[in-house]
Amino acid sequence: MQPVTEDNITELAAERWSSAHDPRTAEVLSALVRHLHAFAREVRLTEDEWMGAVQWLTRTGQVSDDKREEFILASDVLGLSMLVVQMNHRLDPAATPATVLGPFHIEGSPELDFGADMSQGLPGTPLYISGTVRDLDGKAVGGAVLDVWQADTDGAYESQLDVDEARLRAKYTSRPDGTYCVRTIAPFGYSIPMDGPVGELISRTAISHFRPAHVHFLIAVPGYEPLITHLFQEGAEYLDSDVVFGTKAELVAFDPRDPGPTPDGGTSPVPWCHAAYDFVLQPRA
Ligand code: BEZ
Ligand code: FE
Repeated sequence: MQPVTEDNITELAAERWSSAHDPRTAEVLSALVRHLHAFAREVRLTEDEWMGAVQWLTRTGQVSDDKREEFILASDVLGLSMLVVQMNHRLDPAATPATVLGPFHIEGSPELDFGADMSQGLPGTPLYISGTVRDLDGKAVGGAVLDVWQADTDGAYESQLDVDEARLRAKYTSRPDGTYCVRTIAPFGYSIPMDGPVGELISRTAISHFRPAHVHFLIAVPGYEPLITHLFQEGAEYLDSDVVFGTKAELVAFDPRDPGPTPDGGTSPVPWCHAAYDFVLQPRA
């Protein structure tokens, strides 16, 4: 029998997990063992701390369900989600950059026409987001479906509220010349959910728990890299301290306008916001 010691346990465990039948699983699990052991050695992990971490993970699982994604939130605030996005979307600098999906996307949003209002009378400053969807060579991409979702002026997403109908989310399709127009209300910055295990941890730090005002987009077009991104409001609070590390200068796109003509061909009698933004898709490798 081989004696197990503090010195050889890492190699023994890594080797055991490298027996996974699938080569990628073997690579990932044996590396996970090595990094977990290195972490425990570096911080000289105590038994109380180990138990505290186990209980935190248990609570994180217990509050999670199909509407509340506490593990995704944990990954987001640790910067892991954004690291995975960056590594897997090394796009051409001319393409629209990707950012985090976040936990609030809902499948099956209603389809709306060019310029139709997805805010359906909710209070707020009118926001028009318009431009074209095109590729790296400037060619218009018609028929692109833009799946759009956002928080309201209290910073709440549909999945955080008890509502029966689609709220502040819709799908728009670019016209044959690539043009699109979204009509909504300007979102506000918001706090991530702080009433769970992730909030508990953040409260023990000086970290800001807010995200800057933004609108989410998911654009999937056959033949192109799928794009998951946001557009942010110019000058918004928290742009420099986004709790999930999701901001990019290229995505700061909307700013206030005086009453007057709007991109859907109408006129706004009140001050409104506009993002003139061309989404640039990268052809699939
Ligand atoms: C969001 O933008 O919806 C979001 C992203 C990460 C964590 C929490 C919210
Ligand atoms: Fe969001």
